[in-house]
Formats: sequence, structure tokens, C-alpha cells
Amino acid sequence: MAGASRFKENWLQPFFHLGKNPISLIGAGLTSASALTLLGFWCIEVLGHVVINPYLGIIFFLILPALFIFGLLLIPIGIYQRRRQLKAAGLLPAVYPKIDLGDPVFRRAMDLVLLATGVNVLIVGMASYRGVEYMDTAQFCGQSCHVVMRPEYTAYQASAHSHVACVACHVGEGAQSYVKAKVNGTKQLIEVTFNTYPRPIHSPVLDLRPAREICEGCHAPAKYIGEKLLVKTSYADDEKNTMTKTLVLLHLGGRDSVSRLTGIHGVHLGHIEYIATDAQRQVIPWVSRRNGDGSSTDFVSGDATGQIKGEKRVMDCIDCHNRAAHTFQTPEDALNRAMAEGTVSSTLPFVHKESLELLKASYSSQAEAETKIKSDLEEFYRSQRPEVLSSHPDLVNQASASLFSIYKQNIFPDMNVTWGTHPNNVGHNSYPGCFRCHDGGHNTKDGTALTQDCAACHNLLAVDEANPKLLADMGMQ
Ligand code: HEC
Ligand code: HEC
Ligand code: HEC
Ligand code: HEC
Ligand code: HEC
Repeated sequence: MAGASRFKENWLQPFFHLGKNPISLIGAGLTSASALTLLGFWCIEVLGHVVINPYLGIIFFLILPALFIFGLLLIPIGIYQRRRQLKAAGLLPAVYPKIDLGDPVFRRAMDLVLLATGVNVLIVGMASYRGVEYMDTAQFCGQSCHVVMRPEYTAYQASAHSHVACVACHVGEGAQSYVKAKVNGTKQLIEVTFNTYPRPIHSPVLDLRPAREICEGCHAPAKYIGEKLLVKTSYADDEKNTMTKTLVLLHLGGRDSVSRLTGIHGVHLGHIEYIATDAQRQVIPWVSRRNGDGSSTDFVSGDATGQIKGEKRVMDCIDCHNRAAHTFQTPEDALNRAMAEGTVSSTLPFVHKESLELLKASYSSQAEAETKIKSDLEEFYRSQRPEVLSSHPDLVNQASASLFSIYKQNIFPDMNVTWGTHPNNVGHNSYPGCFRCHDGGHNTKDGTALTQDCAACHNLLAVDEANPKLLADMGMQ
């Protein structure tokens, strides 16, 4: 009983007396209003499905909990302020007005205060858990910063990794990476708020963890894949959009059953270093292979002049699969694919030539692209092949819709992301890729070149053939 009465005199009486100030009252109001809204939202969420768009997500998972805590903080701040004012004015009572514990009204108020404190603790816990969970979703990363991340989010949704959370690749495990990510995130939030973020967002991501920690959690680096057959379908610019096939048998390799590292995957991992002299890692004048005996063999580009300076990087998955989750297509590849799938019908005369021109033209916005692609394709058939437009208006419409969907999957004028902004390092036909090193011009001191032998990487089983016999033999044609 003595403890209770000391608590009453030292804490409760000052609390109630000093708590009657505007700041604390506003705080209490904010806290209870946001608490009620949050509780209501959670009830609805438990009872049924709520579709949360990113803006609601930000409100319910971040802003309301922040208001709640802000309100809670205002209460003691108000009390402290009030105490200082009273003290300065010499009005601080030596003994605070008595509270009558026997008074039933007061007791009920006390019960409420205790209950509210308990509930508040729960709400803070729940809200911070939900907030953290929400910030880890692809939705938060990809959509909240709407314009900024739209290129990456769009490409991600179409990738093989569309079900892997952004944070699985971009944020490491453990408290340290977590804090680093949040500091980074806050910096980005400020850049977004003040509209000072880079357009496009820089790639490579310099502080990405090594692939060892990212990719290898899911993909075994030494998995033996062996040979992989790629079948590519292309269309020509002639009236009939002549179709041809290319068959490439890639020597992907891996670690074979007697633990030898073979093929494209086997030979690079863990022991090849390089120096890139440009920000996008596209110009690589110096490569070095570490040998089993500790020595190393350097390959230097014939174009290199003077001393080659820069960060040495050990080659890993990301040096080839740099667009693993964010592959932007080339207009040629995207169009070939749409034509193979039939959404751009190859029965329309010259559709390949016209479409490629329309895709590569520059438009000021996605909206302009949508209307121009449609009207220009129609105009082409109206002036050149009126009979096609009158007999197959549906095919022409379908083609322009498909072209626009390719366009908006890859081009983001407000982020300066256009064809070729983010080169893909797998391959060598659209971007330097493998040929950053295997261009035939990187030599050791004694003149041995890093291989550019087509057969070291693949067998070209057919190149642009109308009807490769092999496909027929395999029952694929
Ligand atoms: C499978 C792993 C993976 C996932 C999942 C992933 N990313 Fe990436 N991300 C990468 C890699 C790898 C790079 C480029 C690395 C490089 O070239 O250095 C990258 C680059 C980026 C960049 C830099 C700009 C650019 O285009 O290169 C942004 C922004 C980005 N990612 C955002 C996201 C967002 C948002 C999500 C979720 C919607 C996400 N990422 C999911 C692996 C991933
Ligand atoms: C959380 C697990 C996870 C992580 C981390 C991850 N992947 Fe994947 N990856 C997958 C899954 C799942 C698939 C789809 C497999 C399928 O569809 O057969 C896939 C498919 C792929 C493919 C083949 C499809 C394609 O796009 O060509 C490549 C290449 C690939 N991943 C590379 C990477 C690289 C490089 C990294 C590291 C930057 C990485 N992955 C990180 C789970 C992961
Ligand atoms: C020297 C470049 C290079 C490096 C380094 C590399 N890859 Fe690959 N990888 C390729 C190429 C080329 C392909 C075939 C691409 C295609 O299918 O079009 C491929 C294909 C794949 C596939 C798809 C396999 C399939 O069955 O379709 C996966 C998964 C993959 N790589 C994962 C990885 C991982 C994980 C690492 C790092 C441990 C890695 N790669 C390192 C070049 C590389
Ligand atoms: C950063 C430079 C670099 C890049 C990029 C690169 N490689 Fe290599 N590659 C090397 C080095 C170094 C060797 C080892 C050469 C040696 O041992 O003589 C090598 C060896 C190889 C070999 C074995 C050659 C042989 O004669 O046995 C193959 C196959 C290969 N690379 C394929 C690829 C493919 C495919 C790509 C692109 C997807 C690629 N490389 C990208 C540096 C690179
Ligand atoms: C260092 C390895 C390497 C060398 C050397 C190499 N290629 Fe390739 N090539 C690749 C890879 C990897 C791909 C698959 C790219 C992909 O996954 O789309 C490819 C794809 C191709 C394709 C398919 C077309 C396409 O659109 O992708 C052709 C054609 C081709 N190579 C021709 C050649 C010729 C001709 C040579 C010899 C002068 C050669 N390559 C040398 C690695 C190599």
C-alpha cells in the first residue's frame, strides 16, 4: 500500500496535473485516433481479404504507426514543457493536487490508463512488425517509388525471378545489412522527395553483395547443366517476313562427375579477375586467370594504352547474368518473339520492317507511343496495302497493341530508360557481353589470345535456316 501511494504521489498526481496541456492532449488525441484506425484496419484484414495498393500500404504500415508513436511521444514532451513553464513562473506546486483513490470515477480512469498502456505496447509491437514486413515486399520496393523503380519492377515481373522478393537479392541477412539497407533507403526516399534521383538509376549496383551470397543460396554454382540447346526464330524485312531458325548448342557445363570444372559455367567461377575502365563494366582491358600453382596469367587488350587502373573484380554470376531479374529486351528479340507467338501476325506484309521502325522511333511519353504506333501502322496499310486493312483490321489492331505492350515493357521516357540503356552481358550479338574479353584481341605476353573460337562456347547447328533438318529430326517442326 505504501508503494502504491508513493507511486500515486510521485507519478500519477504530477502526470494528471501537468498532462492537461495542449501538446500532451494533441498527442493523446493523435495516438488514440491512429490506434482506433489501425485496430479497425487489422480487424477488417483478419476478417477478409483487403486489397492493399501501395499507397494504402504506406498509410497503414508506415504513416499511421508513425503518427501513433509521434502522438505517444508528444505526451511526455508536453508534460516536460509544462513543468518547465510552471517552474520558471514559480507555479510548480510542492505537493500536487490530491487524487482520491477511493473515488470510483478516478479508479475507472486509472483502469483505462493501464489498459491503454497495455494496448499501446501491443500496437507498437504489431505495427513495427507489420511495417518491417511490408517494407520487404516487392510491392513496396517496386511500386511505392512508382516512377523511379518502374523499369526494374516491370522487367522483374516478367522475369524468372518474379516470385523472389527484391530484398532476397538486394538486402543481405543480419542486422548490419538491414541497417545499411534502411540508411540507403532513407537516402533514396530523400532523393525521391526532392526529385534529385538519377535517371536512369545507375547500374551496376555497386554495393550489391557478391553473387556467392545472393544467387548461390538458391542456385548451386557447380550444378552440372551440360549442353543447352537454344532455338531462335527470326523474321526478315521482306514483304513475306521470311522466317528462319538458328540452333545453338551452348556448352554450359558445370562441375562434372569427376569434379572437373567444364564449359561456360565451369571455367569462370572463382579464379578470374578483371578491371573495367567504364562505369557500366563494358570496357575490360585487363583480365587475369589465377592458376592452380598460385601463378597467374594476364590477358591484356591490344587497345589498352598506358597503365590500366581500376577496381579488380573477381568474376561471378552477376558479371554474365547482370540482368537476371531485370532483363530489358532488344527491339529485335522482342519483335521476333511476338511474331513467333502470333500476336504480331507474320501474314501482314512488311510487318517486321514496319514494326521495328515503329518500336525504335522516339516518343515523348508512353501515351504518345500508344497513339502514334497505332495510327502509324494503320496509316502504313491504308496507303500501301488498303486491301489488307479492309480485310484484316483485327490483325492490324492486334499487332499495334502487341507493339505497344513491348514498348511499355522496355521503354520508360521519364526515367531515361530506352533500348540499350542496360546492356545484357549474356551472349555477344546485341551487346559486347562475352566479347568484352573474348574479342580475339586480349593476349598474354607470349601472344596467346583469349579464345574467340565459336566452337569453344557453342556448336552452331543451324544459322538462319528456313527449315533446319535437325528440328524436323527432333520432331520440333
Ligand atoms: C534475383 C535477384 C534480384 C531480384 C529478385 C531483384 N533484383 Fe534488382 N538487381 C539485381 C541485379 C543482379 C542487378 C544489377 C546488378 C549489376 O549490374 O550490378 C539489379 C539492379 C537493380 C537496380 C539498379 C538499376 C538497374 O536496372 O540495374 C534497381 C533499381 C533494382 N535492381 C531494383 C529491384 C527491385 C525494385 C526489385 C523487386 C521488385 C528487384 N530489384 C529484385 C538482382 C535482383
Ligand atoms: C530466392 C531464390 C533465388 C535467388 C536468390 C536467385 N534465384 Fe535465380 N532462379 C530462382 C528460381 C525459382 C528460378 C526459376 C526456375 C525455373 O523457372 O525453372 C530462377 C531462374 C534463374 C535463371 C534461369 C532463368 C533466366 O532468367 O534465364 C537464371 C539465369 C538465374 N536464376 C540466375 C540467378 C542469379 C544470377 C542470381 C543472383 C543474382 C539468382 N538467380 C538468384 C531462384 C532464385
Ligand atoms: C561466363 C558467363 C557466366 C557466368 C559467370 C555464369 N553464367 Fe549462368 N549462364 C551463362 C549462359 C551463357 C547461360 C545460357 C543462357 C541462355 O540460356 O540463353 C547460363 C544459364 C544459366 C542458368 C539457366 C540454366 C538452364 O538450365 O536453363 C542458370 C540457372 C544459371 N546460368 C545460373 C548461374 C549462376 C548461379 C551463376 C554463378 C554461380 C552463373 N550462372 C554464372 C553464363 C554464365
Ligand atoms: C571478364 C572477362 C571474361 C568474360 C566477360 C567472359 N570470359 Fe570466358 N574466359 C575468360 C578467361 C580469363 C578464361 C580463361 C582462359 C584460359 O584459361 O585460357 C575464359 C575461358 C572461357 C572458356 C573456355 C575456353 C577454352 O579455351 O577452354 C569458355 C568456353 C568461355 N570462357 C566462355 C565465355 C562465355 C560464353 C562468356 C559470356 C557469357 C564469357 N566467357 C565471358 C574471361 C572472360
Ligand atoms: C566466348 C563464348 C562465345 C564465342 C567465342 C562465340 N559465341 Fe556465339 N554465343 C555465345 C553465347 C553465350 C550465345 C547465347 C546467347 C543467348 O543466350 O542468347 C551465343 C549465341 C550465338 C548466336 C545465336 C544468335 C542470337 O541471336 O543469339 C550466333 C549466331 C552466334 N553466337 C554466332 C557466333 C559465331 C559465328 C562465333 C565465332 C566467330 C561465336 N558466336 C563465338 C557465346 C560465344
